[in-house]
Amino acid sequence: MINVLMVCLGNICRSPLAEGILVSKVDNKIVFVDSAGTGAYHIGNLPDVRSIKVAKKYGIDITNQRARKFSVKDFDSFDYIYVMDESNYQNILMLARNTADENKVHLILNETHPTKNLSVPDPYHGGNQGFENVYKMLDEACEIIANKLSS
Ligand code: 4NP
Repeated sequence: MINVLMVCLGNICRSPLAEGILVSKVDNKIVFVDSAGTGAYHIGNLPDVRSIKVAKKYGIDITNQRARKFSVKDFDSFDYIYVMDESNYQNILMLARNTADENKVHLILNETHPTKNLSVPDPYHGGNQGFENVYKMLDEACEIIANKLSS
């Protein structure tokens, strides 16, 4: 099994979308995908209704997901940890115990824009267009990740 973890702040907007999108693009017998947040505000919650809605529009159901907080044990369970933004990146790197942990952490938009270190904008305080925009960015990045994992 290849284990992939998507990480954002709340685990209710961006990383649930990234999880749902990547699950839809890989062989689920070979690749396991999960998501988590660096913050604890929304533990146990469903994804934001706006993420549920945009995913559904593209044929993806993310209502099975519940928010959880990233744990240092996730470094042992996951091979690839994709973070949505620079702040998530710093927060996860602070928890890394060694360079093997550090090397698992990647900014997800470096898949589509190598070495640019771009962030997926936090759509929480915006409207539906922000979620549509995030969906498109994540769909492109996950397409590349899925191709890499299956080659
Ligand atoms: P996410 O968005 O990190 O994409 O899940 C957020 C959701 C909630 C909060 C921040 C970001 N919050 O501060 O409650």
